[in-house]
Parts: sequence; C-alpha cells; structure tokens
Amino acid sequence: MLDLRSPELLRTKAYMNGSWVEVTNTFDVHNPATGQELASVADLTVDDVRIAICAAHRAQPMWAAKTGKERAALLRRWHDLMVAHADDLAQILTAEMGKPLAEAKGEVLYGASFIEWFAEEAKRIYGDVIPGHQPDKRIVVLKQPVGVVGSITPWNFPNAMIARKVAPALAVGCTFVARPSELTPLSALAMAELAHQAGIPAGVFNVVPSTAAAEVGEEFCSNEKIAKITFTGSTRVGKILMEQCASQVKKVSLELGGNAPFIVFDDADVDAAVEGALIAKFRNAGQTCVCANRIYAQAGIHDEFVRELSDRVREFTVGNGFQDVTSIGPLINKAAFRKVEAHISDAVAKGATVKVGGSPHALGGQFYEPTVVTGMTSDMLAASEETFGPVAPVFKFETEEQAAMQANDSEFGLAAYFYTQDLNRAWRMAEQLQTGMVGINTGLISTEVAPFGGIKQSGLGREGSKYGTDDYVELKYMCFGGIQ
Ligand code: SIN
Repeated sequence: MLDLRSPELLRTKAYMNGSWVEVTNTFDVHNPATGQELASVADLTVDDVRIAICAAHRAQPMWAAKTGKERAALLRRWHDLMVAHADDLAQILTAEMGKPLAEAKGEVLYGASFIEWFAEEAKRIYGDVIPGHQPDKRIVVLKQPVGVVGSITPWNFPNAMIARKVAPALAVGCTFVARPSELTPLSALAMAELAHQAGIPAGVFNVVPSTAAAEVGEEFCSNEKIAKITFTGSTRVGKILMEQCASQVKKVSLELGGNAPFIVFDDADVDAAVEGALIAKFRNAGQTCVCANRIYAQAGIHDEFVRELSDRVREFTVGNGFQDVTSIGPLINKAAFRKVEAHISDAVAKGATVKVGGSPHALGGQFYEPTVVTGMTSDMLAASEETFGPVAPVFKFETEEQAAMQANDSEFGLAAYFYTQDLNRAWRMAEQLQTGMVGINTGLISTEVAPFGGIKQSGLGREGSKYGTDDYVELKYMCFGGIQ
C-alpha cells in the first residue's frame, strides 16, 4: 500500500468547477507490477463531462482577465507544491504506471518544470507593433487565449503529459478540461488537489476521469464551448480527433506516434553511444514516444557496439518499481506485452538473432526481459511499428546515405538520434533527418526549454519552450486608421 505523507493527494472523485464530485459509476485502477487494485475512481459519463466543460467555459473570461503576473503567481505556487510533494506524487505514479520510483520522481519534477517555465512565460505573452502600410494607419497585434482547451493524455507519463499542456494553456488565459488515461487517473487527480491548494480558481482546471474514451473525445471535438483539443497518443486516434474537429475547424495540437532511429557511425565514441542507447531505448521500459525504436550501427563499429550494449543490458534489474534495485518496471498491460512478444517472434522468424533477453521475465505478469536483437531488416515489424517495450533491435548499415535513407523511411517523424564525432556529418545528418527533434551525441532530449513535437504523421504543434504558448493563442490585429 502507499505510504503518503499527504494522504489527501490520493483522490478518486472527479475534479470539476473547484469541487470533488462523486458520480454513480466507478472503475478500478490497478498496479501493473502486482495486479493489485489501487482505487475505484469516478467514471464520468459524457453528460458529466459536459458539466465540467460548462464550468471551464464560465471561468474562462475571469481567468483571461487576470494579469499575466497574477496567473504566473498561481502557477508558481502550483509548481512549488508539486515539488514539495514530489515523493508522494512519485509513489502514486509508480503505483499506477509501474516505472521505477526514481524515474517517477524524475517525471514529477520534469512535469513541474513546465509549470515553472510557463509561470514565467505568463508575463511575456507579447504582441507586436507593425509599421503602418499607409501614412494614417497603425497596426497592433494582440495574442489572445483560444478559450477552453480539452486535453486527452496517455498513461506513459501520467503527470508530465498533462503538465506540459495545462501550463501553457493556463499561462495565456485558457481554461482546461483534462481527460487522463483510465489506466493512470490518480496522478492527474493528485495534480488537481495541488492546483486547488495553490488557489487556481474554480473551473480553470478540471479533471474528468472516464472509461468512455471515444465518447469523451467526440464530445470535446463537437462541443462548441471547447475551442481547442490537445492530444498525446496514437496516430490512429489523432487522425480520428482531427477529423472530428474538422466540422468546426477546431484547433488541434497532436503529439502522436514515433519510430525513432538511433544511428551509430563508425567514428562515434562507443561508450557514449551505448550510454545514449540505454537511456533512449530503455527509459520507462521503452514506453516513450521518443524511444529509440530502430538502432542502426555502421558496419565498422557494429560488433563492438552490440557487445557493449548487450553487456550493459544484462545488468538491468527487472522488478516492481518500488524496489530500489529496479531499473526496468512492468509493461502497462497485457496488450503491450503481446506486442513486444509479436515483434520479437516476427524478427526471429525472419532471421534476427536474440543476443540478450527475448522472453517473458521469470517474474511473470507483465514483466518482459530487456532484450537486444541483431540482424534486423526493414521487412520486420519492429522496423515500421513502435514496439513500446524494452527491446533494442539493431540494424547494420554501410554508408551515411544508407543510414539517412533508412532513418527517413517512416511515416513518423518525431525524434531521431545519432552519434558521430565528425562535425560536418553532424550538420549533414541533422539537416536531412525528417523529424521534429534530433539528439546528436545524446539519448535524452526532453526538457521544458525546448520545443517538443513531431512532423509527418507524428503530429502538429510544439510543447515547451518559448514556442509552447503559440498553440494556445489566437493572433488578432487591430488596424487604426485616420491617424493625423
Ligand atoms: C513521450 O512523448 O513519450 C516522451 C515524453 C518525454 O520524454 O517528454
């Protein structure tokens, strides 16, 4: 059971219009490491969700009318509370999602960093003055909040995914209705408790847990009180939401699937490349959208890289995220587990060789062995689909041209990584890669100060950085005429 210093963080009711609301139905949340039931959470219907949307809609003019400095102060207080309660929030996160406790705490602080960043940005939502096009004209550009934002977020980062959407939205004066994954609603509800304690006014931030995922998504897209949808999840669902938003030409931000290439050139520092691969591939048991999904090693360095990578992967300890020694937790559910199995058996059937792992872990349940597979080819499932598990598939390549071509041979374009010590090659590759983010000699690119997001079928919009508020504002220009 959880051992929280502030037990009030474990909330199971919906948070709407500044209050905790009980509804008739509930759904159970389970710990993926043990299968143990953690809580029964309010299961909202679409009618319930509409009440939250109305509350957000009523609150929006009041919130937008506050000064940037006032909104900044409230966001800063929320950030401070998240940092102060990071240990409790991490426990809740590990319990419902499975990642090791230290990683969970890292996520909580990462989430809080977005709230801090956008608290600072709230004071700097600057417009522009454009020189008039006629002698009597003056043009001024305003940035205004889009209105109410509906957010749909996944289970792999139950805290940070919400934080990096709600923080820019609230900073510019939008209000927010969050539907967290039904697998991990407790982190979102704990964030709501802290938003409440921070004094964020009623209706500004609402959390609506529900198992009616498709219906709530449809409501967000069709309800005229919602001005914008922000979604992180699969490309398949992103396309559905985009289609549903089309009839109202509703704004959408989408952070969708990835299939990140991780390229190791002959001139790379092998130790650094292995270190980078471990973090880019195995963070969160391989369940991140920016995970290295395809590892390309150049022929001259391939064997050494595979040997070192395999040695390090053997050192991982699989287990319950609450145990100090654990470096790899369970997969989120049986479907995720089956996908990993399918990718490995497909690769082996088509000629790949398992160097490490390759089987369900002896712990049983949803634990899978950290795995390294070599001899990968482009006809294998893992070449074109996200594995979303602790599997490092290594492809061998000969030339830089081949590497660039294979890396770009994907409909996705979220992240890419490569290791080289040649500065010219670094620029050539970075410019050629068709992704929104490129890690050069690093396997960790996520930070609140940079614009996170993809191109191609990996999405629209950017989260974090000075660009992160752009998706939550409308530009309006005022043209003054007749100026003497
Ligand atoms: C992801 O989108 O899954 C990665 C999240 C992050 O690294 O910020």
